[in-house]
Amino acid sequence: MTRGLFISFEGIDGAGKSTHIARVAELFRQAGRAVVLTREPGGTPLSENLRELVLHEPMDALTEALLMFAARREHLVQVIEPALARGDVVLCDRFTDATFAYQGGGRGFDWQVLAQLERMVQQLPIHAAATAPDHQAPKACPAREGGCASLRQPDLTVWFDLDPLIAAERLASARVPDKFESQPADFFAAVRAGYARRQAEVPDRFARIEAAQSIEAVGADVSRLVTEWLKRPAA
Ligand code: TMP
Repeated sequence: MTRGLFISFEGIDGAGKSTHIARVAELFRQAGRAVVLTREPGGTPLSENLRELVLHEPMDALTEALLMFAARREHLVQVIEPALARGDVVLCDRFTDATFAYQGGGRGFDWQVLAQLERMVQQLPIHAAATAPDHQAPKACPAREGGCASLRQPDLTVWFDLDPLIAAERLASARVPDKFESQPADFFAAVRAGYARRQAEVPDRFARIEAAQSIEAVGADVSRLVTEWLKRPAA
């Protein structure tokens, strides 16, 4: 059976990733692959409810981080893991790197606490506790160099990197801003730095796209990146 593929798309608000995710989906469909298009926070009815809360209600930084990971856990259990097990291609508009960038970089929330939550939520194997009564809750990851060896992570993360000032101009004419979109440019500068830090930590899966280019040029870069990446022996 074809191996499932998990690709996430990241960037500050206004970086313009959505148009390109649809194009990548088309690329895979043309190659005969089943594609699951999804997003975070969200992707299941419960996670979409949590999305409404985190995007619109003021809250404590730890509460916000916990809700992001709660939505993610549900999304992993209900959507991502079953799709990967079927051999589908999962294209996810944001994943955990967004939590490190926004809550860690933007809000200044403790990076190590986020790493602990990441290990708890993404440790493999991932099963629904409700459908497996004797399921053990994920334990703290065994101490190993570099942390846990078996976390669910995207196979590839496409980071649309853009100067926050350009992103703000693009957003100015867009929809009514949510809690994050209405943050000032220095918040997004910190989010961008969070993404850069994350990329430096895992350069193998984290590819940067220059998002200040025209839509056509960005689209061409994304298609090239995905096509080249699929040719790698490990993919
Ligand atoms: P979207 O507008 O790209 O769908 O993303 C929703 C917002 O939620 C966006 O401003 C980024 C933010 N966010 C976080 O702060 N932390 C997270 O973990 C995720 C997934 C999104």
